[in-house]
Amino acid sequence: MAAGSPDRTSPLDLARRVVRSALSGSVRAAAGPLRALARAGRADTDPRWAGTAWLWQPGWGKGCHDRLYRRPNPYGIDANDYEQQKYDRVVEALAGRRFGRVLEVGCGEGDLSERLAGHTDDLVGVDISDAAVARARHRVPSATFETRTLPGAMPEGTFDLIVCTDVLYYWEPVTLRVGLDRLLERLRPGGMLLAYHYRGDFGQIGTADAVHALLRGHPGTRGTVREDCDGVGPGRVGALFDVVTAPPADAVAVPAQRSAPVEAPPTVAAAE
Ligand SMILES: C[S@@+](CC[C@H](N)C(=O)[O-])C[C@H]1O[C@@H](n2cnc3c(N)ncnc32)[C@H](O)[C@@H]1O
Repeated sequence: MAAGSPDRTSPLDLARRVVRSALSGSVRAAAGPLRALARAGRADTDPRWAGTAWLWQPGWGKGCHDRLYRRPNPYGIDANDYEQQKYDRVVEALAGRRFGRVLEVGCGEGDLSERLAGHTDDLVGVDISDAAVARARHRVPSATFETRTLPGAMPEGTFDLIVCTDVLYYWEPVTLRVGLDRLLERLRPGGMLLAYHYRGDFGQIGTADAVHALLRGHPGTRGTVREDCDGVGPGRVGALFDVVTAPPADAVAVPAQRSAPVEAPPTVAAAE
């Protein structure tokens, strides 16, 4: 998970990173054939995926994130320039505005939540890791935090602002496609979705560019503004920041999703 890695690395951290990266590389190598087998020839764009409970983030599922959060602050966030500039950029995009209801996807231990809480009285943070959620609750008592694996276990209701920083690239292509449909369905008219993604390859199956490609031109949006954040992050490979706006109320005449509607939110089996 290079996006959050501290800039100074101890030998133990380095060894852990090498092992993790080797393991995630093999998971990724196996993912293609396994996916093809499991999906029995169904195209990634098939609308039947919208109702499926079986979504996937190979190598970076619940077990992996639970392990990472066994110790607090696994990304050394306070001393991590990448994380700090990312939070600053997100808050800057909020331009001092207040929002009715806000969803933060993959909130971790609440570092960004703490800042988002200044922009709403109703912040809902969700994360795949119980330990991260427990720490976020302690850190930002005014917000609601829930352990959930998105996009399967979406929280109830709709939101004026949805924030996803360094999380969407864990979702493999179908999960990402279905996941973005589900998130954008929950965005209230005129609402905003902010998605920030490190561009490096640390063994994750998705990429910043793949997320951006799906957001740009998604029928559930009024537009996506892309910002290239050059030179940030480990290896200085940069990041992408997508600012997505939902159509205003009078323009929401057609369903905002790309795939068929979901009857009831299924539970995701977060396969590794
Ligand atoms: C790289 S960290 C980023 C944390 C935080 N968004 C930030 O920018 O500081 C990714 C976070 O996403 C969470 N996560 C990963 N997959 C998830 C999923 N499918 N649903 C909810 N949370 C997820 C992880 O547990 C982790 O806290």
